Amino acid sequence: MEPSGRLELTWTNKHLRLITTETGGYDWVEPTDPRVSEVRLLHDVESVGEVAGDVADNLLIEGDALHALTALNRTPELARHYAGQVRLVYIDPPFNTGQAFADYDDNLEHSVWLSMLRDRLVQIKPLLAPNGCVWVHLDDAEGHRCRCVMDEVLGSANFVATIVWEKDKGRRNDTDISGVHDSLLVYARDPGTWATGRNLLERTDAQTARYRNPDDDPRGPWLQGDNGTAKSGSEAARYPIELPSGRSVQPPEGNYWRFSRENLARARSEGRVYFGQDGNRLPLIKRYLTDVQQGVVPRSWWPAEEVGSNQEAKRDHLRRMFPGVAPFATPKPERLLQRIIHIATNPGDIVLDCFAGSGTTAAVAHKMGRRWVTVEREADTVARFTRPRLAKVVAGEDPGGITTPVEWKGGGGFRHVKVGPSILDLDPESGEVFLAEWATNGAFSEAVAAQLGFVQVDEPPFCGLKGRTRLAVLDGVVGATEMEFLVASLGDRERAVVVGKAFTDDAEARLRELSPGSRVRHAPGELLRNGGRR
Ligand SMILES: C[S@@+](CC[C@H](N)C(=O)[O-])C[C@H]1O[C@@H](n2cnc3c(N)ncnc32)[C@H](O)[C@@H]1O
Repeated sequence: MEPSGRLELTWTNKHLRLITTETGGYDWVEPTDPRVSEVRLLHDVESVGEVAGDVADNLLIEGDALHALTALNRTPELARHYAGQVRLVYIDPPFNTGQAFADYDDNLEHSVWLSMLRDRLVQIKPLLAPNGCVWVHLDDAEGHRCRCVMDEVLGSANFVATIVWEKDKGRRNDTDISGVHDSLLVYARDPGTWATGRNLLERTDAQTARYRNPDDDPRGPWLQGDNGTAKSGSEAARYPIELPSGRSVQPPEGNYWRFSRENLARARSEGRVYFGQDGNRLPLIKRYLTDVQQGVVPRSWWPAEEVGSNQEAKRDHLRRMFPGVAPFATPKPERLLQRIIHIATNPGDIVLDCFAGSGTTAAVAHKMGRRWVTVEREADTVARFTRPRLAKVVAGEDPGGITTPVEWKGGGGFRHVKVGPSILDLDPESGEVFLAEWATNGAFSEAVAAQLGFVQVDEPPFCGLKGRTRLAVLDGVVGATEMEFLVASLGDRERAVVVGKAFTDDAEARLRELSPGSRVRHAPGELLRNGGRR
């Protein structure tokens, strides 16, 4: 391989793409495979609670994350609401603990996992708002490799932090070292823009208690336990100071004042220096509670007491919500998502999680007044956990999680939609691609419009519009007469893209002659061989 000068992780089949099989597995295919660039339709299943009935509603999407993300990016009706507008993406994908496999299988597993994640991150990136961010929740199985992939897709300069979450307060004695943490890899679309919009955490009672007012300062409590000296500094920060008691002091041996002569003189003239009750102690410039920021900067270590543990999610919340049902295997605590959503978003912002599981992210986003989109591939998980949990949140029937602290009473709603089937049938023997049987009439037109990025319109003989180009999708054999009719229906300076399954020999020439710039596309071949480009 040519040295590119760029640091990157390589893996088996990195140059290929993965497509999801109907049974939930993944198949390697060439990037030019028509199925890679296919845009699937989202079909309505039902609405829960109050919804407007449009794509801006909260969405529970049943299907593969890649299909859902591609639809959000490329279907014009959805892209208008989501592309460049998602403030927070939190994902908790399967951790890929395939260690039980022998070396070869294990390698294959890593490759599949890395490509699976990379392809979804590639689709997540254009959805991010300018002040948006991505949080990927993992453990040590893939965390280090995932960070390389995130550097590659999102840009290493956009890395913000790795948060360490204490997922388990206990200790396992049947292992060499008992792992009790997960990692959250945080990247911003643009760290500068992100930092100006991210929220601080509320100061805890313990933090506020460190500010007291022993000398009845009218400016209020100031930080105790602070010290006016430091272990490092320059010689200029070792000058003598005369105390109110008349004693002259220097910093202790090997220490330096934390403040310059000028700063001390200014603070002294403003009455902001503390010399002890007797005026005879080393000086300290006071830091007032009213001057420090409204909240505190988040730290990278999140203990279970502050944001909950796996056990809190599984035993204390979900098991009570679904009594008598084996709980979802790996739910995350609502308090963990509450902190992430608080830091990264404000009410009304869009939160996306395309590995929904039991639906924690959407449930917390809902209770915190954010808009949300969540995607889960397993129909059984959606039916048993995600949908009923979110329905309970809407109905105000979930007393657990963050319901009490945020005073959630119920309300709002969401639309449950499902990723539609592929428009393509592939003959595994010959590799030939056919249109699926369902692709006829209206369903065919709808799928073609989504695939080619046309906004759907109901203006016969046209079914789609993109700028000054109109889309016509015809089912039977299309001939010169149909072309004449279509061109006659075009407005001034408009062009047509005509999609059909079969054309007579003279059809295309007639279209070009009557409307130069108009084009013919044969389905399915010319619909999908665009490698993901429009
Ligand atoms: C670790 S769980 C997420 C748990 C979730 N954070 C919660 O609190 O319940 C990962 C979920 O991702 C789903 N999943 C796996 N591959 C997927 C894919 N390609 N598209 C969408 N969902 C997928 C799994 O079915 C599983 O429910």
